[in-house]
Amino acid sequence: MKRIGILTAGGDTPALNATIHGAVVRANQLKVEIVGLIKGFNCLFNPRVPHVHLNPLYQEIPELDPTKGGTLIGSSRDFVDPEKTEDLDLVVSRLKKLGIEGLICIGGDGTLNGLQPLAERLPVVLAPKTIDNDLGLNHPSEPDEWVRVHDATAKAGFRYKRAASNAVFDLDHIVNYVTPGYATAVFVSAQGVERIRTTAESHRRIAIIEVMGRHSGYIALGTAYGRPDIILVPEHAPDLELLVQRVKHLYDLQKNVVIVCGEGIVDEQGRELGAESRSTDPAGNIVLSGAAEALRTKLIQMIGDKYFQLYRRGESAKEAIFTRKVGHTQRGGRPILFDRFYAAQLGAETVDLLVEGRNNAVAVLQYNAAKGFHVQGYDANRFRDRWGLIHARSMYPALYDAKLMKPSKLGIDYLMPIFTDAIGEDDAEHMRQTLFAAGNLAQPYHSINTDVHKRIRYLKPDVAVGPAPV
Ligand code: F6P
Repeated sequence: MKRIGILTAGGDTPALNATIHGAVVRANQLKVEIVGLIKGFNCLFNPRVPHVHLNPLYQEIPELDPTKGGTLIGSSRDFVDPEKTEDLDLVVSRLKKLGIEGLICIGGDGTLNGLQPLAERLPVVLAPKTIDNDLGLNHPSEPDEWVRVHDATAKAGFRYKRAASNAVFDLDHIVNYVTPGYATAVFVSAQGVERIRTTAESHRRIAIIEVMGRHSGYIALGTAYGRPDIILVPEHAPDLELLVQRVKHLYDLQKNVVIVCGEGIVDEQGRELGAESRSTDPAGNIVLSGAAEALRTKLIQMIGDKYFQLYRRGESAKEAIFTRKVGHTQRGGRPILFDRFYAAQLGAETVDLLVEGRNNAVAVLQYNAAKGFHVQGYDANRFRDRWGLIHARSMYPALYDAKLMKPSKLGIDYLMPIFTDAIGEDDAEHMRQTLFAAGNLAQPYHSINTDVHKRIRYLKPDVAVGPAPV
């Protein structure tokens, strides 16, 4: 293989450049060219196919900095619809025009679904990325547990749900234990919890902090490091009576309460609390908003103003209970050491998978107590249910204790290998040296996009072949 294409698809994470860097370093060793495709699949729907040569003369371009968040080649939520065969053919023909013999997609479960029909036309592999940590399998037989039911309101007339599991859960058997981007998202969220705590303490308030993760509670679970009092995850509908009882007990004791909720939390009927105002992104994913706000409304109703007045801690429940979203800060900025290190290894593994001819494989990060973390290839077909679909991974329910509203003992065992030593000395040093540098005040921000733009090349437009000259 002489030339490989690489693209970043879906929502960004802090570890994308590190993954690209790992791929380029490996490609340089093997004397393979790497072409970065601009803005994910969007690039392939553009007849000019904007692209960047990431390793001219087998040297990485200087703009590729693995310690910088985001992606230098840009990302988008555009995707290849498996039903649209003409689109698939078009995408492949454009890749071939660029001389690309294999494609690395850095993406999540949506991208992996889109790759399935593409893999029948061109060698493709996936390097995982998602802050939600929802790409993977809690145990290898998880895809077999999906059942589908007719639902006229659902896309394609079916709804998919999980049947009860027959597998014994074992941390050592998780497929893709953790995904680059997750550790940094938790790092930012846990810091957010710590910072909200002292203001809630000072003003005798109840804070509800919403974190991302869609339908997966992994980010919320990890915020336990910031020591919130209560964590709510989408995989367990909260018992509101118990919640109010716990909130009142804590408020009585410590005059403040900090609650973390995942954006996808549901009520007893399985309805998303935050979906009261909902929309969809271009890939058809439901964009959830307002889980914390919905929870606040419920607590205001159930606790009432009198409670706070009696304590002389504000006039109303509305005043005392406030919400904050950690928001996109958990997806941006410098990746911490854990993410940088393993993202680079996974990137390198994808090059090896292509070169070894392992079409449609996923580079996964495995963990076991004896070997620690290690990367390997995993056949993408093994992620598919019997109808061929790949589902986002939910947090394994037993990692959470619904009574304590916190990680269970198993959850703590899950988190520790990731986060113990996840922060490098250079992470702290970087902040010390750069945040308050005098130059920040004087010089305008210089975007990576400005430099990469100068390197973008385009395909020549198709020239119609006319009649031969006479
Ligand atoms: O999948 C990553 C993610 O950050 C989710 O946690 C979140 O729901 C969503 O993307 C937000 O998407 P956007 O940046 O398009 O608002």
